[in-house]
Amino acid sequence: MNFFDEVAGVWDKTSRCDAAKVAALLAVLQLKPGETVLDVGTGTGVMIPFIRERVGAYVPVVAVDRSEEMLRVASLRHSGAGVHFLKADVERERLAGRFDAILLYSVFPHFRYPVETIFKLVTDNLYCGGRLLIAHAQGRSHLNAIHRRLSNRVFSRPLPPVAEQVGQFVRAGLTVKSFGESEESYYILVCRGDCGDPAGE
Ligand SMILES: C[S@@+](CC[C@H](N)C(=O)[O-])C[C@H]1O[C@@H](n2cnc3c(N)ncnc32)[C@H](O)[C@@H]1O
Repeated sequence: MNFFDEVAGVWDKTSRCDAAKVAALLAVLQLKPGETVLDVGTGTGVMIPFIRERVGAYVPVVAVDRSEEMLRVASLRHSGAGVHFLKADVERERLAGRFDAILLYSVFPHFRYPVETIFKLVTDNLYCGGRLLIAHAQGRSHLNAIHRRLSNRVFSRPLPPVAEQVGQFVRAGLTVKSFGESEESYYILVCRGDCGDPAGE
């Protein structure tokens, strides 16, 4: 059983979600009523109420995770939220559909191929002009310390300084709109600006 399957049942008790910090991070994504959203690494679905509050009750929201147990908890907890829950590994699989926004909250360090995976999500799954937000409500050194402690149970890479990560994205051809980090947060906003292919719209 993988780490996230093991901890799914206690995840909401052990990982605190600070609503004010989440709201500040989501302000960067600027979700608007009516926008479609892909929540990558949804876990138990902690972001779903925040997303629904911003986009409204009826627009498509897809929540994806590779952990079956996390998805089971999420779909029980948010059964009335009108969310489509999808089991998939976004590093290995190509997801169908395009969205106005993609959210990766507390998942990015678990990617083995971070630049390739973000590039694929942006080009395959965002509409032209769409936005993808990598967000953490803790600072990099705190996150890296947690991941070091758990290194024998779950794969993670240390987060590099945010400007260094942005440099890797830009060199790969991605358009970074804004980024920042502090003792309490880490975020990168990427947008899909290459709108040359009409078939992709
Ligand atoms: C640290 S948890 C965060 C869950 C949730 N976003 C939260 O903040 O509570 C990371 C989640 O990402 C999922 N995940 C990691 N790598 C993934 C991948 N390649 N594809 C899909 N889900 C992935 C894990 O299964 C886990 O549920």
